Amino acid sequence: MKVRKAVIPAAGLGTRMLPATKTVPKEMLPLVDKPAIQYIIEEAAAAGIEDILVVTNRAKSAMDDYFDYYPELETRLLQSGKDRELTEVRRAADLANIFYVRQKETKGLGHAIWRAKRFVGDEPFAVLLGDDIMRSKKPVVKQLIEAAERYEASAVGVQQVGLDVISKYCSVKVKPLEERIFDVSDLVEKPRPEQVFSNYAILGRYVLTPGIFDVLENLTPGYGGEIQLTDGLSELCKKEKMVAVDFEGKRYDTGNLKGFLEATIDFAMDHPETGKWLKRFLKDKAKAL
Ligand code: G1P
Repeated sequence: MKVRKAVIPAAGLGTRMLPATKTVPKEMLPLVDKPAIQYIIEEAAAAGIEDILVVTNRAKSAMDDYFDYYPELETRLLQSGKDRELTEVRRAADLANIFYVRQKETKGLGHAIWRAKRFVGDEPFAVLLGDDIMRSKKPVVKQLIEAAERYEASAVGVQQVGLDVISKYCSVKVKPLEERIFDVSDLVEKPRPEQVFSNYAILGRYVLTPGIFDVLENLTPGYGGEIQLTDGLSELCKKEKMVAVDFEGKRYDTGNLKGFLEATIDFAMDHPETGKWLKRFLKDKAKAL
């Protein structure tokens, strides 16, 4: 089993980040000096993924422009000796082979993934949700790929979340297999308290077998009237092996304002241009509080 392809669903309306996302796709909002989606594409590329399909909608064309070459700008940067900027602009366009398909209708995550069927064909593939940005030593999706390849199985990336917030995610029924890896026998999306299997929730990373498409094709709408990927996984894990990986790394939910600010501050603290300055700025601010 070799994972070479990834799918990034990016067709959401960004309603949690309005009004900024009225005309700018939420995936294009900058986290320090790069748009949010670039972090996701970099993670996939660092994990050895070559081909990436982004599932978009009619309001997201800024994304394909971003990952394209821009000859006029590049010539200008070259002429004015802005080598660092030129390298960065080119690097973004060369990260991977990026393909796009539109979801056309907003019918849920499961429906967005189903749109990737022709791109994926008959091989396992990774899914990286655009809102979930990771900071880790080993790319989180790589941790999943290794488990999926070792177990010849689908793999979902989980972490423990508080029982008070699990209803925002999904809950996974797990049985330990080895350190940080579990067997999965059921899942439930946005669980009510009596439905919770465990406090392990999927946080935005998956490696799936193409078997998911047969399941998604016949799925009826679930939570919120949408085709839920989690409902598809709940069926898939009863037909095929599925493991959960308690991944190492910090996850930011950049689809909401607080998560977005957390990621911005953490990334800016690590950034060579802003790190020192920001730490001093925050210290001074904290003194004045
Ligand atoms: C989606 C998934 C959910 C998952 C969450 C975080 O929910 O449906 O199972 O736990 O992402 O990755 P959403 O954030 O779209 O409500």
